[in-house]
Amino acid sequence: MARGKLKASKWARHSDLDYVEELVLYSTSQAGQPGPELANTRPILADAMDLESLNTLDVIISCQGGNYTQEIHAPLRDMGWQGYWLDAASTLRMDNSSTIVLDPLNQSRIKQNLVKGQRDFIGGNCTVSLMLMALHGLFKANLVEWITAMTYQAISGGGAQQMRELLIQMGEIHEQASPLLRSRESSILDIDSRIDEYLNSGALTTSTIGHPLANNLLPWIDIDLNNGTGREEWKGYAETNKILGREDNPVPIESTCVRVGTFRCHSQAFTIALSQDVGIDELAEIMGQANRWVKVIPNNRQDTLQSLTPAAVSGSMDIAVGRIRKTDFNSKMMTVFTVGDQLLWGAAEPLRRMLRILSERHEFEDD
Ligand code: HSE
Repeated sequence: MARGKLKASKWARHSDLDYVEELVLYSTSQAGQPGPELANTRPILADAMDLESLNTLDVIISCQGGNYTQEIHAPLRDMGWQGYWLDAASTLRMDNSSTIVLDPLNQSRIKQNLVKGQRDFIGGNCTVSLMLMALHGLFKANLVEWITAMTYQAISGGGAQQMRELLIQMGEIHEQASPLLRSRESSILDIDSRIDEYLNSGALTTSTIGHPLANNLLPWIDIDLNNGTGREEWKGYAETNKILGREDNPVPIESTCVRVGTFRCHSQAFTIALSQDVGIDELAEIMGQANRWVKVIPNNRQDTLQSLTPAAVSGSMDIAVGRIRKTDFNSKMMTVFTVGDQLLWGAAEPLRRMLRILSERHEFEDD
């Protein structure tokens, strides 16, 4: 977790730290230990539970998750802290006093709310941010009547420990299959039943993810809202409409959210009802020109398998968008597949960009 004092003066645009006067790195578990060596940064990690200390600076960026926000945010505000709180947790996202930040889509709303004096700016759910980046052009052109989303979410959405456990599960499964794999006499059915038995035996390490994910998928993400829907699916509707400022005229969005055994990219398949019958080439152009991160992948087998995959997109800022088609049964319905890095646009990037907007606030507040 980091927080900093912003320089009110102009800043060079080389790095995000250029406009931070002082950066203090906090930890909930390693306070007192040496931190990374960064410019303008105190060498020792501070205690993230120390409200007096947190009360002194301009901006807090928390990467700790919702429990930390729950524990710290309200007491800090009660002490009179007037700084900007930035996090990517769901705790404050739907509060009226917070803005969900995804500035390629809602920069004017962010700036309006800053001018109004709002101080909580929260990154959206990763799946929502990646969907909106991908479908930006369709929303801009007012083409979306409703959406269904089928998601294929990487384990990075569950955090670092779950990423480790997925690899452990893969290793354990391989260990089980390994003697049979090496034997020329073994049949694939023997291998299959050995793995199947092992997955269902309870012996696989599942202490963090809770279930086998390697060689499996999990069609439920986040808590059960007890109405047939998971909270991840509800977020797809609620957060999207808040980001778009369409709370009074919401776009209907239905999702089925699925955890798959990929490492760090979330993929999604959409069926979209369009408000107009727009040609396929025009749709691709509208989507591709919406922002500089969308990369339209031609809808053929070779380009798709080469460029529209988690392996191709992982670690990049690209939002790959492909399989753009009209349905045979209704020319006002289209399908799209997208892949984006959930740790970048899905988590860190909207906050990094919000810090930059904060550093520029004197420019637009004077307008
Ligand atoms: N809820 C997301 C997931 C994490 O589990 O994939 C990012 O918001």
